[in-house]
Amino acid sequence: MLPSSPSARSLYSAAVAQATPDPVAIIGASGALGFGVATRLGGAGVPIAIGSREFARAVETVERAREIVPDASFSAHHNDDAVRAAAVVILSVPFRNQSETLANLRHALSPGQLLIDATVPLAAAVSGKATRMLGVWQGSAAQQALEMVPDGVRVVSALHTISAASLSDPEHPLDQDVLVCGDSRDDKREAAALIQRIEGLRCVDCGRLEMSRTTESLTALLIAVNARYKAHAGVRLTSLPDSLWE
Ligand SMILES: NC(=O)c1ccc[n+]([C@@H]2O[C@H](COP(=O)([O-])OP(=O)(O)OC[C@H]3O[C@@H](n4cnc5c(N)ncnc54)[C@H](OP(=O)(O)O)[C@@H]3O)[C@@H](O)[C@H]2O)c1
Repeated sequence: MLPSSPSARSLYSAAVAQATPDPVAIIGASGALGFGVATRLGGAGVPIAIGSREFARAVETVERAREIVPDASFSAHHNDDAVRAAAVVILSVPFRNQSETLANLRHALSPGQLLIDATVPLAAAVSGKATRMLGVWQGSAAQQALEMVPDGVRVVSALHTISAASLSDPEHPLDQDVLVCGDSRDDKREAAALIQRIEGLRCVDCGRLEMSRTTESLTALLIAVNARYKAHAGVRLTSLPDSLWE
C-alpha cells in the first residue's frame, strides 16, 4: 500500500529510501521533461540510466544533471543500452518521434519491463498549436505505445501534467498530482511507488490505459492556462481518500 497523505508519504519515503532502488532508464532525458524527471528521481536516490540517440549527448546530460544533484547516480548510454540496464523505462520524447523511438527500441525492450509513457500528442508536433491535440488512431499516445512494444512489456501512462520547468528547478515545490493510467492495477502501483519518491507528487489511479486520451489532453489545457498566467500550474484532485493505493 502506498500512503497518500503528505505526512504518511514522508514516512513512507524515509522507509523506502533505505533500500537502493533498481535503475530507471529515461529515453529523452536530454530534453525538457526527461531531464527534470531524471534530476528529481536521481535526487530521490533512484539510479538513472540516461538514454540518448547520441552517446555524447547522454554524457553531456549526465554532466548537467550532476551539477543540479551531485550525489545522485547517473550513467550515460545509447537509448538501447539504457533500456537494457533497467527494469523500468520512462519514455519522454515528442509525439512525432514516439513510434520511431519505440520501433528502434523493440529489440532492447524485454517482457516484464514497465514502460511509463509521458508522450503527449500535441498539434505542435506537426507545426500546429500547442493548445490543440492531434487525433491518434489508437486513441492516445499511450495506446500507440502499447501497440508498439513487444508482448509482455507493461505500459502505463503518467507525468503529462507536470511542467518540465518546475521539475528542473530543484527550488520549485511541486505539490501536485500525477495522473496514472494503465490496464493493470499492479503496474500502476509500481509506477506510483517510483514517481512518489519525488517529494510533492501524489499519484492518482485514473483508470484504464484508454483514459490516457483524457489525461494527455490536460497538457494542452495547462499550456493554455500557464500562458495566460505565466505560471507552471499542475493539477490537484480534491476530496480523495488518504490511501489511494491499497
Ligand atoms: N516539456 C514539458 O513540460 C512536458 C510536460 C509533460 C509532457 N511532456 C511530453 O513529454 C514528451 C517530451 O517532451 P519534451 O518537452 O521533453 O521534448 P523535447 O525536449 O523536445 O525532446 C525530448 C527528447 O526527445 C529526443 N528526440 C528529439 N527529437 C527526436 C527525434 N527526431 N527522434 C527521436 N528522439 C528525439 C531527444 O533526445 P536525444 O536527442 O538525446 O535522443 C530530446 O532531448 C513530449 O511528448 C511532451 O509532449 C512535456
